[in-house]
Amino acid sequence: MLLLVASLVGHGALLVWCYNRLHALDWSRSRVKLIERTILLVSLLLALVHLALAADRELWLDLGLLAHPTWGLDDILLTIYPLTGLVALLVAIPQWLLPKLNVGPPAILVAHTQRRLDLRQELQPLPLGTSRGRFAAAIPFTEILQLQIERKTIRVPHLPAELAGLTIAHLSDLHLIGDLTETFFSRIVDETLALDADLIVITGDILEQERCFDWLPGTLGRLRAREGVYYVLGNHDKRLADPGDLRRRLDALGLTPVAGQTLHRTIRGCSISISGNELPWFGPAPDCSKLASSERPFRLLLTHTPDLYPWAREHQFDLMLAGHNHGGQIRFPYFGALVTPSLFGSRYAGGLYDEKPTVLHVSRGISGQHPLRWNCPPELPLLTLLPRE
Ligand SMILES: [Fe+2]
Repeated sequence: MLLLVASLVGHGALLVWCYNRLHALDWSRSRVKLIERTILLVSLLLALVHLALAADRELWLDLGLLAHPTWGLDDILLTIYPLTGLVALLVAIPQWLLPKLNVGPPAILVAHTQRRLDLRQELQPLPLGTSRGRFAAAIPFTEILQLQIERKTIRVPHLPAELAGLTIAHLSDLHLIGDLTETFFSRIVDETLALDADLIVITGDILEQERCFDWLPGTLGRLRAREGVYYVLGNHDKRLADPGDLRRRLDALGLTPVAGQTLHRTIRGCSISISGNELPWFGPAPDCSKLASSERPFRLLLTHTPDLYPWAREHQFDLMLAGHNHGGQIRFPYFGALVTPSLFGSRYAGGLYDEKPTVLHVSRGISGQHPLRWNCPPELPLLTLLPRE
């Protein structure tokens, strides 16, 4: 019985593995859905047949559904299915569980404060625009109408001493789709402006329904920061009939696009480069050859997916900001995220990572296509940068 349960858990882990990788790719939505549903259906059928065989194989023989007395398809299924599940579980434990045992923030995080706002109390009527949104908000303990303002002071490499204390408000994954209304996002913008950051960045998944275009002037169009507001798009923005339309509207509102390019800025007399990479959904990657040859500025990279972390490290970026994984949206006590659309599974679900030479910050984001959050509140991070000692 224990082996049976272990094998079923292993097959569950295999399904999550497939889901995470499938949704990390630049494949069409219909193709991903077709593959996802096929895998789910086949898995369900195999599990049911296996359970029925394991429960009472004699009955199957009596009914004439199995005609052989010796080794056959049922024996193969009864052997291969649990074996596959057990192997998957044995692989999943070191891949998923053991990294979670390495708890604790990286040493680069020198200060961290959190302030939770319950917008359910503050915004009346509730900022819910669809029946789907109202249903989601009624789910017990859901956090979709909360906001956690996270102030993180971090040490980053190659930051000139003059830039010590530079602040970046990191917005991500707003998902303007209509479930939450303009009022909600306007409040997010108010809170962002109140942080008085030097830079504001948005790392994709901004808007995927044309009907929300009218919200932009009253929300993201109000974002202003001393050193500029920069953005890249994400995979959900690609669902628009014309993502270029979104770019043009954001640009007209004063936001600066960095996709596929590197901008050079001077802040407090110091050089800083800001690059954007929207792969695998939009290309190309920015040309980094000039970065290598010029006098080294502090290098900031905006991407949507944290899957570009190896690329960022290869190109010697100092700080990479990303979103996409939403912190997993449902986080289990102690073990954290499970479902994250990433080639790395839940490894970069959300938070800070220090794999040299690049520091990575992944925001849990503001919302999501599926409005459900447990133990994973929407996040508005303010990063304060200090030079690495
Ligand atoms: Fe997203």
